[in-house]
Amino acid sequence: MRDLVCGLDVGTTKTCAVIAEIAGDLPRSPEARILGVGRARTSGVRRGVVRDIDETTRSVVEAVAAAERMAGFKVEGVWVGIAGEHVHAITSPGVVAVTSPEIRQADVDRVIEVARAVVLGPDSEILHVIPQEFIVDRQRGISDPVGMTGTRLEVDVFLTTMSSSVGQNLRRAIERAGYHVAGFVLEPLAASYATVTEDERELGVALVELGASSTGLAIFHDEKFRHLWTFGFAGAHVTSDIAMGLSVTQADAERLKERYGIAYRPLVDPQETIELPSPAGQEPRHVLRDILADIIHQRLDEVLGAVAREIERVGYVGKLPAGVVLTGGTAQLAGIVELARDVFGMPVRLGVPGQHLTGNLIDAVEQPRFSTATGLALYAIHETARGAAQSGARAVTVDRVLGSVRRWLTDFF
Ligand SMILES: Nc1ncnc2c1ncn2[C@@H]1O[C@H](COP(=O)(O)OP(=O)(O)OP(=O)(O)O)[C@@H](O)[C@H]1O
Ligand SMILES: [Mg+2]
Repeated sequence: MRDLVCGLDVGTTKTCAVIAEIAGDLPRSPEARILGVGRARTSGVRRGVVRDIDETTRSVVEAVAAAERMAGFKVEGVWVGIAGEHVHAITSPGVVAVTSPEIRQADVDRVIEVARAVVLGPDSEILHVIPQEFIVDRQRGISDPVGMTGTRLEVDVFLTTMSSSVGQNLRRAIERAGYHVAGFVLEPLAASYATVTEDERELGVALVELGASSTGLAIFHDEKFRHLWTFGFAGAHVTSDIAMGLSVTQADAERLKERYGIAYRPLVDPQETIELPSPAGQEPRHVLRDILADIIHQRLDEVLGAVAREIERVGYVGKLPAGVVLTGGTAQLAGIVELARDVFGMPVRLGVPGQHLTGNLIDAVEQPRFSTATGLALYAIHETARGAAQSGARAVTVDRVLGSVRRWLTDFF
């Protein structure tokens, strides 16, 4: 049997499945051979929260079945993205005494266990446990203390939590579709696998995911995941602004945005006009393309401005030499990079899946809107390559996943 994984991104506008086979040089540098991609429109989820289980189930069936047809294989387990305002991150310390002559893996596991033993709210569960640094006898900045000598071992971990009920509803929708959840993965973390390089992560980089209903910020510095933030405005708000501003339907606004939209007004020819869709029997209307660009520019300037303020608030201004990587469906708008350079005053590039991918179907996922689904498949491949799970073949509980996540995150972040 082939080692297959399936990443499943259940977003506000679409459900997307990516089936990949484990490839590359294992276990050090795993790659994903893309075998199948499937997409389905959906309205069952908003900002990461299931609003309609049946509709979500329908979109999962449609997206995964399409990916399975393309791949020519069936999958059983799927790796599912988690995002939204119900996700929280905290930093938590842990300390233990070491009695053996040198620090062993068991001591490391113990100190992480102490750090993750925080009091959670009733509807809260741990999603990821990411060690930031270890401290041995007050000496900081240690990434792997195993084999060192010391009597006191400390750790700072970055804990992300999610709402249990949100997770349960998503799991239910997926199980009704006939698949099991192999693991839940934080979407920005997944997207970073597909779009952010190891060098960028080391230098310091902000990954900004512009979706439909929300915008996510993930800051990486010194190879580690440092900060996570979600803002409830993104592409769908741009579409609504266009619908209001130009008196067109939401569907027409969406089409106008994708066809003529430009996020940075100076790029537009001020004389150019575009034709607006008009109800049957009415004269066609024309507007300056500049007016459409102005609407988009204003909204995205506000969204990116909020992200810039958050970067400032958490003290990362001047600490992100690799700048900003923009991804997600809204990052497909023309002029978005130019606008973001203006807002952030930092280097900005588009995050398009491509790294660590192989096979002749790569072009099916080479768009910013596939970053999360592709990243979920890559994440699953890292997991599987480490022998943590035989994805697609066996159920893995969240707790089991956490154990292995902890192990590889120590290496990679
Ligand atoms: N070519 C394009 N030009 C402009 N906007 C686009 C383009 N393609 C997609 N979008 C916009 O991207 C958004 C969808 O992005 P994405 O697929 O990342 O979101 P999602 O995962 O469904 O939602 P969310 O992550 O917010 O739950 C929509 O608002 C859509 O209008
Ligand atoms: Mg999304």
